[in-house]
Amino acid sequence: MRNINVRGVLAAAALVAAMGLAPAFAQGTNATSEGPANRGGTTQNAVTGPANAANPTASAVSEEQLFQQLDKLSGRVSIPDGKAAILQQPQGRDYRGFREGILPWVGGIFVLGMILALAAFYFTRGRIKLEHSEESGRKILRFNAFERFTHWMTAMSFIVLAISGLNYIFGKRLLMPIIGPDAFAAWSQYAKYAHNFLSWPFMIGLLFMILVWIKDNIPDRTDVTWIKQGGGLVGQGHPPARRFNAGQKVIFWSVVLGGLALSVSGVIMMFPFSVADINGMQISQYVHATVGVILIAIMIAHIYIGSLGMEGAYDAMGSGEVDLAWARTHHSLWVEEEQAKTASGPQVRTRPAPAE
Ligand code: HEM
Repeated sequence: MRNINVRGVLAAAALVAAMGLAPAFAQGTNATSEGPANRGGTTQNAVTGPANAANPTASAVSEEQLFQQLDKLSGRVSIPDGKAAILQQPQGRDYRGFREGILPWVGGIFVLGMILALAAFYFTRGRIKLEHSEESGRKILRFNAFERFTHWMTAMSFIVLAISGLNYIFGKRLLMPIIGPDAFAAWSQYAKYAHNFLSWPFMIGLLFMILVWIKDNIPDRTDVTWIKQGGGLVGQGHPPARRFNAGQKVIFWSVVLGGLALSVSGVIMMFPFSVADINGMQISQYVHATVGVILIAIMIAHIYIGSLGMEGAYDAMGSGEVDLAWARTHHSLWVEEEQAKTASGPQVRTRPAPAE
């Protein structure tokens, strides 16, 4: 009887122990067979456990940690488009924040800020007047036909690129409420075609500009004097300058360096995912949009000074010939160099007197 009791107690204890261990075993098996991304079961246990119990998920990888450590979370797909396998790409959220939040602000401030600054300059300083001298009426060739062709090809394509580019940033916000979604969709489609196709004449023009003007745009000591004297814009005098003054060199290098950055990032975007993955595509867009709005603001200043802002300047890119008095005022060293080269020959000619 006593033996039976002892056996009975031992069997009952073994049964109770087995029942107690079973869930723990089951839990252990689940925890190891599941990947870190699927910890729902264990989280549930932690939540329902005693308040001071150790959190069994404390060392688990959170979604946030995964995002920080990996470029992207991807799965497997059997369709040809491998990009569809990307499930999450956290940098995409930063990119969206930039595209929808920072960029319109930065773009608006640069472009509107430049227009307002030029308007303020125009109304305080006024138009820079052509100063007459005994050389007035004589002409000097400033840009030959190829240089003018290069300038206008680049300039015209840039203007279309700028307008269609700004449409990407501001069109939906500013234009669509005015013209309606249908008209906006049609216009945006043409704007996009124009943006893609005119990028090529812009890039070719950029290469030509580098070829024809780089030698005259290397910074030298005359630029230091020019800058110290405020370039004749803010001061009263006209500091000596060679073919291009320091301000024009800044324009040239902005066009060249900005244009190259736009070209590289633009071509990467024109052929999506051919040389860059999703991160590369986003970086290209950051570069393209930021450089684009800065260069547009700079070119607005250039267009102002080359037309409304300075009397006599436009002729240089219009007919190619400028008034010798203008050239002497703004580019004295260049006039001397040209006259020395040609011994005042073919470069300088007197405009025939108009018929009465
Ligand atoms: C309708 C718009 C434009 C006008 C009226 C204009 C006018 C001019 C003029 C008059 C010059 C010669 C200045 C001189 O005698 O030294 C010039 C030069 C130049 N332009 Fe333009 N331009 C325009 C648009 C552009 C655009 C969009 C670009 C580039 C994307 C550009 C790039 C240049 C460069 C690199 C130079 C030589 C450096 C300089 O003079 O600053 N221009 N432009």
